[in-house]
Amino acid sequence: MGGPVIYIFILCYALSFALCSNNQLFAANELTANYSHKNLLNVPKSLPSLTTVLDLSYNEISVLLTSDFSPLSKLKVLNISHNNISELDTEVLKFNKDLEYLDLSRNHLWNIAGTFPEGLGHLDLSFNSFRNLSMCKEFGNMLQLQFLGLSAEEITKFALKEMGTLQLHTVVLTVENLSSYEPGSLQMLNTEKLHIVLPMRHREHYYTIMYTDPRVVMYDAFKTSKTLGLSNILFLLNDPMFWRSFSGVVDKHSIVSTLILDNVLLSWNDLVAVIQAVWHSSVEYFIVSELFLWSFIQKAQFDYSNTLMKAFTVKHVHIEIFEFDQNDVYSLFSEMMIPRMTINDANIVFMLCPSKNSSFTYLDFSSNELTDDIFQGCGTLLSLETFVLQQNKLDKLSKVGAMTAQMKSLRNLDVSQNPIQYEDGDGCYWSESIVTLNLSSAEVDESVFKCLPVNVETLDLHNNQILTLPAGITKLKVLKELNLASNRLTNLPDCSYFPSLAVLGVEMNTIQSPSSDFLQKCKNVRAINAGNNPFQCDCDIRDFISQEKQSAGDITGWPESYRCQYPESVKGTQLKDFHLTEISCNTSILLVVIFIIIVAVVISVFGLCKYLDLPWYLKMMWQWTKTKNRINATNRNPPALHKNLVYHAFISYSQHDASWVKNDLIPNLEKGDGSIHICQHERNFVPGRSIIENIINCIEKSYKSIFVLSPNFIQSEWCHYELYFAHHRLFTENSDSLILILLEPIPQYLIPSKYYKLKALMAKRTYLEWPKEKSKHGLFWANLRAAININLFPPEEICII
Ligand SMILES: *[C@@H]1O[C@H](CO)[C@@H](O)[C@H](O)[C@H]1NC(C)=O
Ligand SMILES: *[C@@H]1O[C@H](CO)[C@@H](O)[C@H](O)[C@H]1NC(C)=O
Ligand SMILES: *[C@@H]1O[C@H](CO)[C@@H](O)[C@H](O)[C@H]1NC(C)=O
Ligand SMILES: *[C@@H]1O[C@H](CO)[C@@H](O)[C@H](O)[C@H]1NC(C)=O
Ligand SMILES: *[C@@H]1O[C@H](CO)[C@@H](O)[C@H](O)[C@H]1NC(C)=O
Ligand SMILES: *[C@@H]1O[C@H](CO)[C@@H](O)[C@H](O)[C@H]1NC(C)=O
Ligand SMILES: *[C@@H]1O[C@H](CO)[C@@H](O)[C@H](O)[C@H]1NC(C)=O
Repeated sequence: MGGPVIYIFILCYALSFALCSNNQLFAANELTANYSHKNLLNVPKSLPSLTTVLDLSYNEISVLLTSDFSPLSKLKVLNISHNNISELDTEVLKFNKDLEYLDLSRNHLWNIAGTFPEGLGHLDLSFNSFRNLSMCKEFGNMLQLQFLGLSAEEITKFALKEMGTLQLHTVVLTVENLSSYEPGSLQMLNTEKLHIVLPMRHREHYYTIMYTDPRVVMYDAFKTSKTLGLSNILFLLNDPMFWRSFSGVVDKHSIVSTLILDNVLLSWNDLVAVIQAVWHSSVEYFIVSELFLWSFIQKAQFDYSNTLMKAFTVKHVHIEIFEFDQNDVYSLFSEMMIPRMTINDANIVFMLCPSKNSSFTYLDFSSNELTDDIFQGCGTLLSLETFVLQQNKLDKLSKVGAMTAQMKSLRNLDVSQNPIQYEDGDGCYWSESIVTLNLSSAEVDESVFKCLPVNVETLDLHNNQILTLPAGITKLKVLKELNLASNRLTNLPDCSYFPSLAVLGVEMNTIQSPSSDFLQKCKNVRAINAGNNPFQCDCDIRDFISQEKQSAGDITGWPESYRCQYPESVKGTQLKDFHLTEISCNTSILLVVIFIIIVAVVISVFGLCKYLDLPWYLKMMWQWTKTKNRINATNRNPPALHKNLVYHAFISYSQHDASWVKNDLIPNLEKGDGSIHICQHERNFVPGRSIIENIINCIEKSYKSIFVLSPNFIQSEWCHYELYFAHHRLFTENSDSLILILLEPIPQYLIPSKYYKLKALMAKRTYLEWPKEKSKHGLFWANLRAAININLFPPEEICII
């Protein structure tokens, strides 16, 4: 029974150990083995057979073996890029039928034999040393193929002939050294996107390695796919005429609508020529990134007419020229009559206002050096809807507002990540059309609320210095979404200024006790993110939690991001798990509970008295304590009168009650251990003496006299005498040596008037009542024993009778 369990345990342990030590992770049904950057010379042995993703990139593996991959029948993704493989027999992958993704880029592959698994969707052979593309002949039946990366020095139509049957999404072609190109070859490809990566070489070498006219390649490239990417256009420096004649390559008959030029080194004049050529071509989206500009800049002649261009993007511009007239640069862009323009990370400090009514609807000048002098008083950006000025040098909110004054169509303005301030008296004017304003990471404080566009619906103010929402701010009637995350707020904002608010972000502030009436005041809020605040977990937060729970809306980040910060004892506890009882937070409930407890105590005390005879127990206990105290006192200084005592008690009773005395009283008092001596007339009376003598003798030698009272007792003459003597002694020696046990109740009228002493004693109620309930007997006997218990002199001295 235990055997298999232990075996499985060991197996699991070994497996988890193996997995952890190799950076492997379980994710849903995926088992990833990541051996990237491990300086491996071979594929590791004994990989888990369930591995679905295997990353072997950045190693020095030069040979792949069938035994490396045959156990991995579940393998879907295999990355062996950046290794040292020069030849590959695809037989090594014949057991990996599920393989979908294979990256063999950046090896030294020059030869491949065999066919790849047919299910491959992604096959990357780029950045290798293939001479020609002869391996492509084998790809004709890979119908799942979406992505294909290739590299070659010689490109022929014959090699690519089979590829025409495939519907590819992306082809990446890297040409380190292009020694020959057969015109028309690229057009054999059937792909949405073609990306040609030209060699990254130092300028001087370009010409020496290009043995073919690049214009032929370009010409074909522009007729192959809708999206064309060209990387590393650095090699034509010595041929400025090439760019001038770009128009001969890019024209309205090409099929490219999106052109991406990446890593481009150009003179200003060549750049203008390229843009001009593209301007009159089929290209609608033109993106230039990593542009290195050199040589002088002069005012360019540009024909803006007749273009299909919809969006022009220039990003990451590195200008290697220092002295030029900025206006010569800016005017080229500002006069473009196209809908969208983006100039990112280009160090521009200014932009001209278009001279005519402009068609720009979207302008993005993020990550530049623009100041708030831009577009002041500019009345020609009438169509502009979205204006992004992220991460510039704008610093006056009033001037940013004034800039928009004439932009009648402006809806979205993003001026985030600018060092913006607002000062009272600066004046405030905004285009009323603005609905989205992004003022995040802008260093503004709460004074920003005094100057905001009145119709704004979405306002992003996260990561600023806002402490509170000052009173008397402008009412934003249509504001729906307000992001105040990462500020220094100490409470939730007051919704009375934003009656339409639906989405609120206040995470990462310093809110300790969110006001509990927030959701009552903010009826329209349906989503709130208040996570990662230093919540103070006390009664106030409880209201907030319960309100949050009741609200139908969405609490973003609940419960992970909502934790107690104070008090220390509950720090880190999720609010969801924080409970305080209703009582500890609600005084009226507390009072009610105290009242209920008091009533319950009273009722139970009453019940105890009524049904369990509590007073009887109390009386007995009181008696017991009294007796104990007295015994302790007497034992410390035994009084002289004990000297004559022989018995602990003398018992007087009626003959009718004899059976109770003999069967119950005496056995229970003497307990058979000899510590208590009882004087009982049948046993201890001395024959020959008169009964009276005997009784007197007995009473005098006893510490206590116990009288068993019952109606029978009262009828007994002897008893009267006994009582008399005892009573007599009681008064003469001033010691309460009398113990009355009421065996059966005696109605007062039954006691004859001659027994006035008995009557008086009974009236004082100083008797012990014999309880009918068996459960009370124990205490009764204990009490009685305690009452008569006393250290008498040693037995040999006492038994003289
Ligand atoms: C493997 O780790 C590297 C970092 O060493 C990481 O870049 C790569 O994405 C990881 N691969 C997978 C499949 O997660
Ligand atoms: C290898 O390729 C996989 C699949 O695309 C990818 O997740 C992983 O990040 C790549 N490894 C590296 C080091 O880039
Ligand atoms: C790469 O493989 C070649 C043989 O194909 C070998 O000569 C060379 O030493 C290998 N390089 C490394 C770094 O392993
Ligand atoms: C490309 O040509 C250069 C110069 O002829 C040569 O040194 C280099 O090894 C070649 N690159 C490849 C990948 O064949
Ligand atoms: C393609 O290159 C391979 C390896 O360099 C060579 O064996 C083959 O003959 C070449 N094919 C053509 C058609 O040139
Ligand atoms: C620019 O547009 C505005 C409003 O549409 C119009 O009043 C004005 O005449 C236009 N100006 C020119 C030069 O077309
Ligand atoms: C505001 O801009 C920041 C970047 O500066 C961005 O992360 C955030 O999503 C933008 N907010 C909105 C509402 O678009």
